[in-house]
Parts: sequence; structure tokens; C-alpha cells
Amino acid sequence: MCGIIGYVGDKEIVPLLLKGLQCLEYRGYDSAGIAIHRGHNLNVIKTIGKISNLEEVIKNKTEYNGKNGHINCGIGHTRWATHGEPSDVNAHPHFDTEEKIAVVHNGIIRNYQEIKEKLTHHGLTFVTQTDTEVIVQLISRNLKKTKSAVEAISKSVNELEGSYAIAILFKGESDKIYAVRKEAPLVIGIGNGENFVASDIPTLSQFVDKVIRLNDNEITIVTKNNVEFYNLSGEKIKKEPQIITKTKDILDKKGFKHYLAKEINEQAEVISNLLKDFLPGAGKPVQFDCLKFDPSFLKNIDRVLILACGTAYHAGLTAKYILETLTSIPVEVQFSSEFITASPLLTKKSLVIGISQSGETADTLAAIKKAVSTGATLLGITNRADSALADLAKEHLILSKAGVEISVAATKTFTAQLTVLYLLAVYISEVQGLRRAEIQSIKQELRELPQLVDQALLRAEYYQEQIIKYANKRDFVFIGRGVNYPIALEAALKLKELSYIHASGYASGEMKHGPIAVLDPNVPVVSICVPGETYDRVIQNSLEAKSRKAPMIAVAVDGDKKADSIFDTVLHIPQISEIISPFLVVIPLQFLAYYIAEALGQDIDQPRNLAKSVTVE
Ligand code: M6R
Repeated sequence: MCGIIGYVGDKEIVPLLLKGLQCLEYRGYDSAGIAIHRGHNLNVIKTIGKISNLEEVIKNKTEYNGKNGHINCGIGHTRWATHGEPSDVNAHPHFDTEEKIAVVHNGIIRNYQEIKEKLTHHGLTFVTQTDTEVIVQLISRNLKKTKSAVEAISKSVNELEGSYAIAILFKGESDKIYAVRKEAPLVIGIGNGENFVASDIPTLSQFVDKVIRLNDNEITIVTKNNVEFYNLSGEKIKKEPQIITKTKDILDKKGFKHYLAKEINEQAEVISNLLKDFLPGAGKPVQFDCLKFDPSFLKNIDRVLILACGTAYHAGLTAKYILETLTSIPVEVQFSSEFITASPLLTKKSLVIGISQSGETADTLAAIKKAVSTGATLLGITNRADSALADLAKEHLILSKAGVEISVAATKTFTAQLTVLYLLAVYISEVQGLRRAEIQSIKQELRELPQLVDQALLRAEYYQEQIIKYANKRDFVFIGRGVNYPIALEAALKLKELSYIHASGYASGEMKHGPIAVLDPNVPVVSICVPGETYDRVIQNSLEAKSRKAPMIAVAVDGDKKADSIFDTVLHIPQISEIISPFLVVIPLQFLAYYIAEALGQDIDQPRNLAKSVTVE
């Protein structure tokens, strides 16, 4: 987590750094800060809280206004706290003791305590609780023993264990940004008479057309008209720029009050675009030109292991049902963070599917590396073509193409993952020559899906009216079965992260084995009751909850009279088959979380304690 921006060129630097930080704010918003060269000095200004706080602090300081026509050089940072509480002092950039070097860092230094002790023993004093401060102090110390900044950086990072993307300013080198990375993203933006560094490509695409991605253990020196690259042995390396697709103004809310509302409302379009790409007209098989599998591999897969976290894990759990229904392959879904310490039971015939919106989630990357070390084949699903997962899964990569998702809570990227996973299940099934009639009807239903999703989205106001009366409850229980059990989990996660209300998701049949004990008139139960194989059993479990006097809410299809008669509130969705229903069921549940959080006055797009991209294990 944490976002890094850097600029060197002739433009007024502070507004540029602030705009870059705003684009990166999804990576953390505990504190923000910038460091710039001014005259012979390095100036740092930083504060606890969001970029808007930093803007306020900077506003009245005329010395931070621009100097067009001169070289302006600086770095900025937005923080998600790992070591040391969110505070002014722990905010980046960090100085060395002599205030000659300023550093911003994204990542974790695992051995920072040992380095801190060593440096303290040599007489250095630390002023923050961060792991980052050891980086700047190490560089400062090594600079005194080496001939160049590159050598000092290289010597210092050789002592670090962990992950890092680091940008550095040295006093006296007012036209240069130095940067280095290992297992954390950092990209150089190539402009005309100006250059940038940033944690991601969409941010850079606001300013430039070309980028160069820094690889692990590479150091770069960025000046106004030049970018040089070195390996850790100090040898120069050559790297070519790549042209990037411009991301339209990523900060545009398109008239919605929150990014979350905008993103929920984009779901029909996202699904429709993916179907256009991968599902050709009637009678034709699903096509994934991005997958290079030998058909014999797909026909002989012994098992599928899905690795993911959070919402992506819920998409994976849903995919288990679909894959096991449509193909002959057993599927296991594991939290990436758990798999890291598990004993993998994989073979060369196994398929590992890594799902990550950001493609940068440290747990998922570590789990995938462990899984593929067994010889299993990797298929990656990510929303970010510029991510580490996209790199790892080069051969078999499906981009979920949901567009930039700014709100920390995932919505459209979840339905995009679901779309890709359903199509993948159909694709494998078609290669295996299985369940032909069933596959044809699923493909037809998928084609009709965008229209149905649109209809559900148009019911936003009706959902709001139904839901709002429950905003004063402090606990919620969500229940579902089969393909909608993961949607119960996802609904609980959405409500927790957006509203801070405690919520749990359960397989409805499990309620009577313990969780039913928590029910009383203050704990609403939200049941997912879609006609099909699970319907009667979910209704039965709901009646058990109702008899404990829990307020009862259902997600049910239009015309479901039984649901109308049992539940206090019914959130109707258009008629749909059970197997495709997760796409529709999730919509009123996303709105439920949104409207309750809004009624409680919570920070919708940037919930407390969270960051969108979790790049630490
Ligand atoms: O980028 P990823 O899909 O790997 O992220 C995984 C989770 O961190 C993410 O889904 C998280 O749970 C979201 N905040 C959920 O809304």
C-alpha cells in the first residue's frame, strides 16, 4: 500500500504532486506529504489525514507555489500505516538526521528493528516509529562510505529484507529523483522535457503517453530530459518505453455523489463489454485468445486451486460451484494468506487460478509463487494489465476490464470477475465436450444478463426506501446456499467495510449449528431466496430465524408471493435462474451496504483503516 509520485520538469510542482497523490489516494489515506528542492534546501511538508488536509496545510505557504521555467523536482506520498500509528511524524517523506536526504517508501522492511538497533548503536537517533526511517538513515550512512548515490542506494537495499518501492531526493542534486524497487510497483512516466515516477500507470496516464516499468533490483535516476537505469552492481541497463492507453480522467464521478455509486451503476456495461470480447454469437464457443493452453492440458486437469483475498475470494468461491457444475474438475478455493503456510497438494496437471483486482495483493502474489513452484500451471485474472500478477501470468492471463475502480469497496470488479469466471467454466466445459445443452442455455442467459442487471440498477431508489429503516441495527446476518452462499459472504463484507456495522455471512443450513444463538429483534437476517435447488431449504432456515424474532429481509425474484408473505422486507430482483442469479442478487446487497453507510454518515469511498491495494502480507 501507500502511493508514490515524483516529478521533475518545468511545471509548477505542488499542484502536480497533489493531483498525482489524489489519483493514488486509493492506496492509503492515513497521511500525506511532499518533499521538494527549494534553493539549496530540501523542504518537507506532511500531515496526518487525507490529501485534502495536505492541500489545506500547503495553501497558505507561498514558498510552495511554483517557479515556472526553473527545474522543479519533488516527491510525494500517501500512506496506509503499517509501522507506527497515523501521525504527522510518521507521515512520509522521511529525512535522515542531517536533512540531506528525503525518502518516500511503499512496502515493508521486515528487518527494520535489527537495522535500527545497529544504527542506534552507531549513534543515530530515530524520530519516527516507521520502518522507512531506517532506509533513509542507511542511505545517508552508506553515502559517506561510497562514491555515488547509486552505490549508496545499492549498498543500502542489499541490507534490506522485505518489499519496497522507494523514491529519493538528495540535497545538492536538485534536478534528480532516484528510485529503486523490489516486489512493490514503481513506474517511470516519460514526458516531453519532464519526467515522472508513480506507483501505477493510470496515475501517470493523466500526464504522459509513455512509461518504463522499473523491475526488481533496478535503480533509476530521473531528470527532466533523461532517465537512466542501473542494476545493483552499478552497471547501466537499457530499457525501452512502452506506449500506454490513456485512462480518462480517473477522478471524474460522472455526476454521482460517490465513486461507489458510479461503480455500482457501471456493472451492466462492464458485463456487456466482457461478453462482447469473449462470447461470440449463438452456436460459437467461448473464445479466450489470451489463453495459450494445449487442449489436452484442459481435458486432463486433475484439480483447480483458486487463490484470492477478500471480494476476489468470494468470486473464487462462486466459481467453484460453476466450475464443478459445468466441468469434471474438483475445485478448491483458498485464502491466499492461508495458502502461504499450507502444504500444496498440486501436480503438473493442476491449474492454479489467481484472482486479484489490483494484481498487486502481496498475499496473493506470494501464494501464487508458492503454488507454481510445484509445477502447476497459472492462470491469472486481474483488472490491471500493468500489475505484478499480469507479469506472473503472462501466458494465461484474462483481464477483467472493469476500468479503474476508485472506491475501496469492490463492486464492479467483483461482477467483472464473476463474468470472466463463468465464461472460463463454459470454455473449459466446451473443450472437454461436456453438458452441451446446459452450456447453450447458460450462454443464452449470459447474453441477456446486462439487460437484467440494468433493470436491477434502476431499482436503486426502491432498494434505498426498503433498506434505510435498518440503519440503526448494530449486527446483520446474511444467509444463502449453494451458488449464493459466497454472495452472502460478500454482502456481509460490503456492509462491514462501508458502514462499520458488524455482519456475518453463513451457509443458511449452518445457522442452526450455532450462529442462530445471536439472533434477536435487533439482528436482521438477510436471506437470499432464489427459486431453484436451494430455495425451499433457504426458506426453511429463514423461518427458523423468524421464529427467533429477527427482523427478516429477503432478496427474492419478482412475483415471489411466498417470500412476500414470510419476510418483513423483500428486495425484488428480476426473474433469473439460480445458476446465474449471483450477478443480480449482489446488486440490492451492494445498495444495502451503500445506503446504510450513507445514512450513518460514513466515509463511503475511503472507509477507515482500509486501502484498496494491500501490498503487504
Ligand atoms: O486487489 P485484490 O482483488 O487482490 O484485493 C483483494 C481484497 O483486498 C479486496 O477484495 C478487498 O476485500 C476489498 N476492499 C473488498 O471490497
